[in-house]
Amino acid sequence: MVSVEVVAPSNIALVKYWGKHPDYPDLFIPTKSSVSFNIDAFRTKTRLKVRKGKGAVRLKLNGRRIAADRAEFSYLSGFFSRMQSRYRFARDYDYDIESRNNFPTAAGFASSASGLSALAVSFARAMREERELPSLDDREVSIIARLGSGSAARSAPSRGGLVIWHRGYDNARNATQASESSFAETLYGPRHFSDLELICITAWQGAKKTKSRAGMDESVKSVYDYWQWVEHEEEVLLPSVLSAAKRRDWESLFGLVKQASNNFHSLCLRTSPPIVYLNDVSRRIIEAIEPMKFAAYTFDAGPNAVVITLKERAREASAALEKIVGGRNLVVSSIGAGPIVE
Ligand code: PMV
Repeated sequence: MVSVEVVAPSNIALVKYWGKHPDYPDLFIPTKSSVSFNIDAFRTKTRLKVRKGKGAVRLKLNGRRIAADRAEFSYLSGFFSRMQSRYRFARDYDYDIESRNNFPTAAGFASSASGLSALAVSFARAMREERELPSLDDREVSIIARLGSGSAARSAPSRGGLVIWHRGYDNARNATQASESSFAETLYGPRHFSDLELICITAWQGAKKTKSRAGMDESVKSVYDYWQWVEHEEEVLLPSVLSAAKRRDWESLFGLVKQASNNFHSLCLRTSPPIVYLNDVSRRIIEAIEPMKFAAYTFDAGPNAVVITLKERAREASAALEKIVGGRNLVVSSIGAGPIVE
């Protein structure tokens, strides 16, 4: 038996992932590349025990045993079946997983991102010990995490910071090549962003109305200009974000981040049936932050914003947010490193 413990961060997308490529429905290959910051303050701690067996999986989430017929478990069984077709030997083991988040689940902070990247790193480490394999590199681990949840790929690279997940399929001749080419990597480690701070709003703690997985499938099918959005983000927005980050041109970065978030939520609204993740509190946050040249808001699949701000102006941004959601609902974080094996 091998037992490993891994702590992995969540992430907030600056340029969002929203849609799997229709040619490769089971491989979680995105229609476009995405980039994110790791959120140091929001983590999942996972203990994985692996022993010889027949592929049985048991899960304890935040102290509660999760039965195999629950929705949380279906994420996991999907992950294991995809992963076991990648590594056939993985069928010869049983898995006991205990996972704990230090932040609200399903509120728009990608809990699946930290959870499934923690699991992917644990699996890679456990198999290295159990089967005396060479250690898997970041690229491979991010591909494993991707098979659990797309956004988890971006929480997997060990340096963290600003992470890109390449869509990768452009020159692929078949599904295997496409899968190998869609991986995540760190572009700049957390130190590059020491001028910046994240203010995470946790006011809304309910479950997501539309799960991202179902929502993105609807968008790909029903938004008339979906592929135009993909092309614009891939060819224009994403390169501009990377260039602003490289130059540490924060004002430009903030403008682009707001644009990407608004483009994404307008795409959700144009989906049939429409997907509405933002609520009245989100709207007030947008109005308060929009005029600030030293900050940006961004929302994933939920009403809670993450505000990215210059550290030296963070108090001003916090004061404005406190008036809307109260001080107890703000968590300040730096941009985090990657997963740690404890
Ligand atoms: O990978 P999922 O199913 O957690 O989907 C993530 C979707 C967004 O959070 C909205 C965007 C993103 O890139 O993280």
